[in-house]
Order: sequence, then structure tokens, then C-alpha cells
Amino acid sequence: MLFSIVIFIHVVSAVVSIGPLVALLPMLKKMEDTDEVQLGGFVQAFQISITVVKHAGHVLVISGVLLVWLSAWTWLTSWIVMTIAVMVGSIVFLAKAFKPTLVTFGTSNFNKEQFIKKLRKATWMYIFLLLIMLWLMVVKPTLW
Ligand code: HEM
Repeated sequence: MLFSIVIFIHVVSAVVSIGPLVALLPMLKKMEDTDEVQLGGFVQAFQISITVVKHAGHVLVISGVLLVWLSAWTWLTSWIVMTIAVMVGSIVFLAKAFKPTLVTFGTSNFNKEQFIKKLRKATWMYIFLLLIMLWLMVVKPTLW
């Protein structure tokens, strides 16, 4: 019963980690046609989405640790090791990819085209990293 609850929480947090990022893609398209005054609202929505993704990521890690503890899998299981490796990489990436770009909004360093281009690239990259982890978790490949 405890395992079912934790795995449900784990899967919900995976959905909440990926979902907002996918929604950001059409929003970035809209941002291209928006003037700088209205862009502020979009930037705020972007920041909120990244915060949601960050918190969901915390729940994902905590529930993942509990699942290893509750299941027969160990910390040496190859797909778990690989997920953790990708996760460490994506945490470093998440910290570096979005914030330094988002803080340029409203400063003299702001360039709308570059700003949207960088955010789009970072969003796709992070979705890609999450999909690799999702694949590892669902397929559970024996890598070594
Ligand atoms: C610290 C990182 C993580 C650890 C230690 C971890 C650990 C685990 C474990 C032990 C299971 C249970 C497998 C089973 O017995 O069926 C599981 C399931 C799952 N995990 Fe993770 N996980 C982590 C991160 C992630 C991430 C980043 C995602 C998605 C992006 C994810 C998505 C899933 C999904 C969808 C399942 C259900 C798979 C199934 O039942 O076939 N996990 N995880």
C-alpha cells in the first residue's frame, strides 16, 4: 500500500515536472508577437512555471529515494544510476539555463530575440533531459 502511494506521488511529480515545460513552448511563440510592456506578464508566468518544475523535481527525488528503499531495486541498478547521473546534470543545467537569461529582462542587456531564443533552447533541452529520465524509469534497461 505504501509503495503504491509513493509510486503514485512519484509519477504525478514526473507529470508536473514535464507538463509546465511543454506549455511554455506555445507561450514562447506568443512572446515573439508581444511588445516589451506586455512581455512582463509572460516572463512572470515563465518564472512561475520554472518554480513549479523545480518543486516537482524535489518531490520526484524524495519519492524516488523512498521507492528504492521500498523496492527490491538498489542504488547500483544501472537505470537508477543513469537517472541520477542525468538528474545531477539537469539540476546544474536548470540553475544555469533559465535564471541568468530571465534576470536580463528589464535591464540594458535585454534583447528580445536572443532572450526568447535562449529560453526556447533551454526549455527543449530540459524537456529532452526529462524524457531521457522518463525512458530510463519506464523501460528500466539493464545497461551493465
Ligand atoms: C533520484 C532520482 C530517481 C530515483 C531514485 C527513482 C527511483 C524509482 C524507482 C525505484 C521506481 C520504482 C520502479 C518499480 O519498482 O516499478 C521508479 C518508478 C518511476 N519513476 Fe523514478 N526515480 C527517480 C527519478 C525519476 C524521474 C526524473 C522521472 C521522470 C522524469 C521518474 C519517473 C518514474 C516513473 C514514470 C516511474 C514508474 C515506472 C513504472 O512503474 O514502470 N523517476 N522510480
